[in-house]
Amino acid sequence: MAAHKIAVSDTGQPLGPLAERGWFLHCSEGMDSDATVKDLGKFGDRLGTRVAGRAGALEEVIEPHGADNAHPRSLSVRYGLDALPFHTELSHRTRPCRYLLLGCIDPGSPAAATMLLDWRTLGFSSEELDLLEGTPVLVRSGRRSFYSTILAPGGAFLRYDPGCLEAVDQRGRMALALIEDRIAAASPQAHHWRQGDILIIDNWRVLHGRSPSGPGSGRRLARILIDA
Ligand SMILES: [Fe+2]
Repeated sequence: MAAHKIAVSDTGQPLGPLAERGWFLHCSEGMDSDATVKDLGKFGDRLGTRVAGRAGALEEVIEPHGADNAHPRSLSVRYGLDALPFHTELSHRTRPCRYLLLGCIDPGSPAAATMLLDWRTLGFSSEELDLLEGTPVLVRSGRRSFYSTILAPGGAFLRYDPGCLEAVDQRGRMALALIEDRIAAASPQAHHWRQGDILIIDNWRVLHGRSPSGPGSGRRLARILIDA
């Protein structure tokens, strides 16, 4: 009799590490892509309400894109298959989504890691936090562009995305340069994907980026975004 490997995945497990360090990893080796996407939804439903991504879908599959065929306002247009810089998901919304959930359908070859960085570890002084909280910058989003600050009132979240934030004065330039310098000097964590992995990221606390990818790597991640 053939032995069938049955992958059991516990999506009801406690999410303690999410509160402790701002991200949570769920591994379920041997899960096929349908099961991974299903689990992604279960975790998402535990955390809050789904919000649509830039393309308007509540559930997306993302793949590294060369600059030519990327969404016109995505980071991929500027960076293509190079490393994608650290950013807050949906920075171009007035209130970026609280959680970002990624599920690995295919790690791709060559594989690209997802980089994670808690902005609270960037060592901002109270003067620097004041600069980030008190300096207006332009958030570019076509007709819906608006002014906001990098740090939300009381430090609730950090809005950072070099693809859509623009300084409007000297203080804004200082604020953006400050973040850039701190990120460049930081030691982020790299998550190397295996099929079936699910990463839950507190988007208000942990910036994410991607290491360089190759053309036609086959890397595919399912993504859902959650408001809470
Ligand atoms: Fe992103």
